[in-house]
Amino acid sequence: MKVAGIWRRTIEREGDHVIVLDQAALPFEVTWLALRTLDDVARAIRDMHVRGAPLIGAAAAWGVALALREGHTIDHACRVLAATRPTAVNLRWALERMRGARDAEAEAQAICDEDAAGCEAIGRAGLRLMRDGINVLTHCNAGWLATVDWGTALAPIYAAHEAGMRVHVWVDETRPRNQGLLTAWELAQHGVPHTVIADNAGGHLMQQGKVDLCIVGTDRTRGNGDVANKIGTYLKALAAHDNNVPFYVAVPASSIDRSDAPFEIEERSADEMRTVAGVVAGKPARVRVTDSPVANPAFDVTPARLVTGYITETGVRTAI
Ligand code: MRU
Repeated sequence: MKVAGIWRRTIEREGDHVIVLDQAALPFEVTWLALRTLDDVARAIRDMHVRGAPLIGAAAAWGVALALREGHTIDHACRVLAATRPTAVNLRWALERMRGARDAEAEAQAICDEDAAGCEAIGRAGLRLMRDGINVLTHCNAGWLATVDWGTALAPIYAAHEAGMRVHVWVDETRPRNQGLLTAWELAQHGVPHTVIADNAGGHLMQQGKVDLCIVGTDRTRGNGDVANKIGTYLKALAAHDNNVPFYVAVPASSIDRSDAPFEIEERSADEMRTVAGVVAGKPARVRVTDSPVANPAFDVTPARLVTGYITETGVRTAI
């Protein structure tokens, strides 16, 4: 997708290494990070320079390829990468795929190419939910920044925008990491009209009839249709249900987990709650907002009964 008018992917091969768009610096600075080793990739995922479930999987695949070139065993590479973040199932999916690969670099590139093509297909499938003048609410960032290209939840929005429909997006800020500001940044790169709202505003806007459709992404969707996604997704689904607003989840195949394993919800650092990121005197900075005890669960689970449908690479369906 577009960065300052130039078509890019979030992760690109460059000679003997890969580069990634640094999401820890966005939306204040556009910088690219070079990842040359297993440790580079593990750190980038752990510290959220690379984030969003499908992109975490794609980066982990490259982490394995770089690790093998360094002389690490595949077991060591998978152990290090699997420990970086617990909730997004795409990470484990990508590592399993890399274990079976004959040519690790070709497989990592294939995972990236398939992710981009799959997200584009989700956009085409979701187009049938869109119409001219629609107001869509989304939570977190499930746009192209969270994938290799196109995004999941935002893919139908980009498809509609490219088809000439007028689309407006309500963008949840998504405290504490404010991934909504990344959503706003990437929508702006494409000229898609949008408005950032506080996380608590969505229910009110739905009561006012100002939201026609909710679309969110997922970090793991179980075979029974329950959806793990960024903390706050469940509250949006409840509000949508109470206001008869359709609530859709965009799900690539790599985010589906048909196992019975319980959801593992990542508890992140208290500092994410105790500070907010912004710009002070022209420079990116973190400002302390509380010294109180805090809790910071990063994801929640939306039960299938609150989900109107799932937008997949192969179509929109009511069950997974
Ligand atoms: O903690 P993050 O920023 O990696 O979480 C991202 C989300 O929750 C996204 O909504 C989800 O990964 C879907 S991405 C297409």
